[in-house]
Amino acid sequence: MADSLSLLRCLALVGAAQLLAACASEAEEPVLPPATVRNLMLGKTIPASNVVFAAAAEPPASDQDWRQVGQSARTLAEAGLKLQLGAKGSGKDSWRRYAQAMADAALKVAKAVDKHDVDAVSAAGNQVFEACEGCHRSFYKKSETTG
Ligand code: HEC
Repeated sequence: MADSLSLLRCLALVGAAQLLAACASEAEEPVLPPATVRNLMLGKTIPASNVVFAAAAEPPASDQDWRQVGQSARTLAEAGLKLQLGAKGSGKDSWRRYAQAMADAALKVAKAVDKHDVDAVSAAGNQVFEACEGCHRSFYKKSETTG
């Protein structure tokens, strides 16, 4: 009950990035040190994906905006590769798959941006989101829980 309630509250109250952080629950053992992951999330993944998600929701208006989205997509792809470095433990294969899926989807965004293809940006943006969500569902540890 508590879980579905808090999920509903999350859905009602927060935006995509926060939703991912706040609602994910099941966790395996850490594949990378949490501080390393947090640095990559806060330093690259989150800001770059915010730009990508914003573009997916509302198409860039100027060439400069398009360029910024392309750059963010490439930064996000790079973060997806960096997340795979040094991964270890029993969950590492599935961890790498999510990180690679994020990188692949981000590169699709970059290609769509090169063509100024709004629909493709949006579709690839959804794939990015699925990768974030998939990884968090498996690996995001809530500090209060037993794990
Ligand atoms: C390969 C796995 C993986 C992928 C892909 C991933 N994350 Fe994360 N993310 C994590 C883990 C693990 C944490 C928890 C780190 C910790 O222990 O604090 C986290 C934490 C976060 C946080 C909370 C940061 C904080 O401490 O305040 C946010 C927000 C977040 N991720 C957003 C995203 C978004 C947006 C994407 C996709 C664009 C994404 N993540 C993709 C694994 C991933």
